[in-house]
Amino acid sequence: MAASFDLVVLGAGSGGYACALRAAQLGLAVALVEKDKVGGTCLHRGCIPTKAMLHAAEVADSVRMGNQFGVHAAIDKIDLAGVVSYADGVVARIYKGLSGLVSSSGITVVHGAGRLTQHDGHNGITVDNQTYQATNLVLATGSYPRSLPGLDIDGVKVVASQQALRLERLPASAIVLGGGVIGVEFASAWRSFGVDVTIVEALPRLVSGEDPSISAALERTFRKRGIAMVTGAAMASCRTTESGVRMELADGRVLEAELMLVAVGRGPLTTGLGYQEMGVDLEDGFVKVNERLETSVPGVYAVGDLVRGLQLAHRGFAHGIFVAEDIAHRSGLLEQPPPMIADLGVPRVTYSDPEIASIGLSEDEARTRFGEVQTFTYDLAGNGKSQILKTRGFVKLVRKPNGPVVGIHMIGARVSELVGEAQLITNWDAFPTDIAGLIHAHPSQSEALGEAHLALAGKPLHSHA
Ligand code: NAI
Repeated sequence: MAASFDLVVLGAGSGGYACALRAAQLGLAVALVEKDKVGGTCLHRGCIPTKAMLHAAEVADSVRMGNQFGVHAAIDKIDLAGVVSYADGVVARIYKGLSGLVSSSGITVVHGAGRLTQHDGHNGITVDNQTYQATNLVLATGSYPRSLPGLDIDGVKVVASQQALRLERLPASAIVLGGGVIGVEFASAWRSFGVDVTIVEALPRLVSGEDPSISAALERTFRKRGIAMVTGAAMASCRTTESGVRMELADGRVLEAELMLVAVGRGPLTTGLGYQEMGVDLEDGFVKVNERLETSVPGVYAVGDLVRGLQLAHRGFAHGIFVAEDIAHRSGLLEQPPPMIADLGVPRVTYSDPEIASIGLSEDEARTRFGEVQTFTYDLAGNGKSQILKTRGFVKLVRKPNGPVVGIHMIGARVSELVGEAQLITNWDAFPTDIAGLIHAHPSQSEALGEAHLALAGKPLHSHA
């Protein structure tokens, strides 16, 4: 039996549900297939619960450091069950809101595991024995935590991020394998909760996707916070022991801890779903798409973590909305085609302490592209609000010579909230003089962005150009 729709979406994570919602708004008949819960990894096992845990970590640090502000307090205990229940409460409220939104939008939600299939020349998604056919299909099945050959993620002593979010008690010590975004965020939260943390990173620096100045500043602060880091270090072997985990590095060093988090990247979920069987071309497991996110099979699109590039929820939202609007445009429901989504315009945030937020090109990337660049780094030491918060860090601007600002790189408490303005600057190709003319509220951390642009425009106020 087949049911017919204009659009069937496989996977109701950030990319899939955004696509379904936008398509329904535009008047398309939409089915959304999900085997678990609407909201996907980001809502249930990723972004939202980890940021809740990191907020609890910030609360712990505020208590611990209260005396620096004249507020004397002591931590009684970190009740991990309490932290998990707080995070669960946040997730539950968002889930309720999202479920309500989806059910009131006229989308047909199909609960079950779907596969890409073809019957009588029509593409569809089959769940059990029912096929949902449509002219347009969107693959949005997301990603899974990668492991390493010979490394067994047993969920007890060796865990991936989703299990790390549901620990029953805090370990006394932990090895974090991988110093990317997940590794750095967990290391930060666990350290705030009093865990002895060692990060092992194969590359020479943490958060290697960021401008090197950011990695250096992060490592400096992490060192001060008592987080141990071993960079440029390959793992030779790892086994579980009675008391935890024993890791041997290629140079012979041995590390032991109660728990190990494996955070060496996430892989696209593209196997066992009928993709290759139906002729969808893959490359290293990722779905190959054109600039309109269409796969090698006409009418079949892919969004979010399935598509090589930044694996971020908000990129997934943007992909989903783009595909919905593109389909609506070609169906005559939308006059203008949507603008393409480029990874360069996607803001990046790491919610560790200190936070990292960036957009656009690093200094090296800009140099490769333009030959020469102009940069300016504004130290948060000159920013009143950052002084009040007792945070350190900087805002670094990268500018095409005599042209627009092409990269903004920030580190320090709360800089995640500055990335909104930063992305307007780079995505609208603003010149330093454009931003220098804007007024930033005093005292606020956004002044650091204003001051950096004033300096780059040749009229510094609280800094030397
Ligand atoms: P990642 O790609 O950011 O970092 C993985 C790190 O592991 C890299 O630095 C890599 O060099 C290292 N690595 C790989 N093999 C290794 C080995 N054998 N030994 C030691 N180190 C090794 O991936 P991560 O942190 O697992 O995150 C997965 C995805 O989820 C990323 O794309 C990330 O952007 C996304 N994410 C985003 C968040 C955010 O936006 N705040 C939060 C959490 C995840």
